[in-house]
Amino acid sequence: MTAAEQATANIGVVGLAVMGSNLARNLASREGNTVAIYNRSYSKTETLLTEHPEAGFVPASTYEEFAASLSTPRTAIIMVQAGKGTDAVIDALTEAFEPGDIIVDGGNALFTDTIRREKAVRETGINFVGAGISGGEEGALLGPSIMPGGSAEAWQTLGPILKSIAAIAEGEPCVTHVGTDGAGHFVKMIHNGIEYADMQLIAEAYDLIRQGTGATPAEIADIFAEWNKGELESYLIEITAEVLRQVDAKTDKPLVDVILDQAGSKGTGVWTVQTALDLGVPVSGIAEAVFARAVSSKPAQRAASSALPGPSEIPVVADKAAFIEDVRQAVYASKIIAYSQGFDAIVAGAEEYNWDIKKGEIAKIWRGGCIIRARFLNRITEAYAENPGLVALVAAPYFTEAIGGTQDSWRRVVGDAAAAGIPTPAFSSSLAYYDSLRAPRLPAALVQGQRDFFGAHTYKRVDMDGTFHTLWSGDRTEIEATDSH
Ligand SMILES: NC(=O)c1ccc[n+]([C@@H]2O[C@H](COP(=O)([O-])OP(=O)(O)OC[C@H]3O[C@@H](n4cnc5c(N)ncnc54)[C@H](OP(=O)(O)O)[C@@H]3O)[C@@H](O)[C@H]2O)c1
Repeated sequence: MTAAEQATANIGVVGLAVMGSNLARNLASREGNTVAIYNRSYSKTETLLTEHPEAGFVPASTYEEFAASLSTPRTAIIMVQAGKGTDAVIDALTEAFEPGDIIVDGGNALFTDTIRREKAVRETGINFVGAGISGGEEGALLGPSIMPGGSAEAWQTLGPILKSIAAIAEGEPCVTHVGTDGAGHFVKMIHNGIEYADMQLIAEAYDLIRQGTGATPAEIADIFAEWNKGELESYLIEITAEVLRQVDAKTDKPLVDVILDQAGSKGTGVWTVQTALDLGVPVSGIAEAVFARAVSSKPAQRAASSALPGPSEIPVVADKAAFIEDVRQAVYASKIIAYSQGFDAIVAGAEEYNWDIKKGEIAKIWRGGCIIRARFLNRITEAYAENPGLVALVAAPYFTEAIGGTQDSWRRVVGDAAAAGIPTPAFSSSLAYYDSLRAPRLPAALVQGQRDFFGAHTYKRVDMDGTFHTLWSGDRTEIEATDSH
């Protein structure tokens, strides 16, 4: 048989661990798709074939066979371990594929790697698309949120396929062409950063309610289930209620009480913060969430510090229902800040890397399939539709009003937590960021004075143009200086 005769598949998947095999099954379940599959070790291919004969997969045991089984332009989605694994597969596919074909990396790649890979692959005439995919195993199988980058040409072929497997939110598929080269993976990285903040805020709320009111995990599960009917409705609130309700079969205790309190991470939160630092965008809520996991995972430091003194008097919560409502409002306000900071990072990234990212479209494709799917994403889409040049999401009328309504509760929660010695890094830093943004004057003026004193870094004045320096070690007169900010 000739290669053209063998070419029966319109889409291929390389990497058949949990994400890849579920994505392959999702693809196969959609009208019109025939899916070629390849995995480095053939045993995973065999298992998938045996367990899912209904999918009609076209298996391959070599990259050459895989390429031959795909009709042109060949389109393959890589779902392998991010990093070296991805590079190895890209190298093999660029050998086996031809100009005009499309290689999609659906793994969690660092966006700068995607920019590098896209540039290298483009030189061979093959299209390379870095696509962020969110939704975990279940999303991959039933419909994820997909954030593809790459060229407009590749999107022409790929768009309909990705639309067919993406989650549907309010009748629209949760996928859009985010921008060129690394734009998709950049946005996926920010999505994960927001996810860190969202999870931390919910965890802080749980901790405050438990310590403040003595409610049991099961009772807090009911509180979260109730919250999930209102403006906080989201996948993360929903699953938190389920985790809190779970009882450990071995001990009969709430599962949350037998899970070691050291949170792990796979790196996308760290990437978000590192990138935001490079871009000069404050993503303090996300950063505190990343740091909170780091603190939790330092058992030696925690043990050595366990005898440090706390407050001499712990305030008592007089009105439990009012306190719980305050906490709910604090979650809402801090969550608005986390999303606002995340979108600020997207705006800054788009500017730095020349991506035409439609912020409202991003909020739309996060409404379904992904981990941070939430009711209030529609409000973000509306805010950017009303004002595409919005400089801070939090300053959009809807969010200004929403966050304004939480003020007293938010401040009480942060104050009460500090008084009680309960750590709320994400609540507190979000409030500090909010107050920094709204402050008419910041003590940054003093910092500029200090910088000028020890390093002659100069400063600007509020009352005249120009750049100035005070002769601190001389007669302390002010001179005009060249800008050395
Ligand atoms: N798990 C999630 O919830 C989730 C969510 C979103 C995105 N992702 C991303 O999706 C990708 C796949 O995730 P996963 O959890 O399914 O799998 P994984 O554990 O990250 O990776 C295992 C797969 O990578 C293959 N692989 C590793 N090194 C390779 C190499 N040098 N050459 C060829 N294949 C190689 C393995 O092949 P062998 O079988 O031969 O070892 C196996 O198929 C990752 O980038 C991950 O970050 C995961």
